[in-house]
Amino acid sequence: MIPVVTIDGPTASGKGTVAHRVAQALGYHCLDSGALYRLTALAALQRHQALDDAKALGEIAARLDVRFAGQKIYLEGVEVSLGLRAEEVGSSASKIAVFPAVRTALLERQRAFRMAPGLVADGRDMGTVVFPDAQLKIYLIASVEARVQRRTKQLIENGIIANMSSLLHDLRERDARDTQRAAAPLVKAEDAVTIDSSELGIEEVVAQVLDCAAKRGLGSAP
Ligand code: C5P
Repeated sequence: MIPVVTIDGPTASGKGTVAHRVAQALGYHCLDSGALYRLTALAALQRHQALDDAKALGEIAARLDVRFAGQKIYLEGVEVSLGLRAEEVGSSASKIAVFPAVRTALLERQRAFRMAPGLVADGRDMGTVVFPDAQLKIYLIASVEARVQRRTKQLIENGIIANMSSLLHDLRERDARDTQRAAAPLVKAEDAVTIDSSELGIEEVVAQVLDCAAKRGLGSAP
């Protein structure tokens, strides 16, 4: 069985960066599942598709022409790595993620990332729905204040203008949608290890995850 480490948690909890670093350290592949929801949202926005038509959105998700090449992401042959990070795309992603038709269309695509020697997958339902048999499940949380600060910094670094009060509002809305939806809500898997990163730097979180992985014999030479 190909090993999987799942990292689930709310928006801007640091999942993406932590997942990437842990994957590098273990020599595993990495799945940013949020990117698939963002790509579906971006494709819908580009087509002026209403974001409340579950059937049409499910079809867009099923037919998504995407390519991941290292850190770069292509939609229909066009690089969209930066555009994908925009807040409008993130909040649209959380609106379309409520539809089971969208989630089902993306399920097998996500499972296809499980390739030797292993996978680190980050998202909301990695440990609960997509990889329930994962060898290690992390539930990464952080206070809303810490998350707003991180998201602001991330946006500014990417040259995107950030407004803290609208970010806070957006983050709270997204948390509510992600935790309250009926289909695959953000919830801690029973067997997940919780790490609160509010007061921790990325390196400390990565070290804690790698420590948990080592205890389970992951990433060591066969
Ligand atoms: O993680 P990220 O912020 O890029 O995800 C964008 C949105 O996609 C989230 O707000 C969430 O609603 C949705 N998502 C999801 N399930 C996942 C990953 C992301 O519903 N596994």
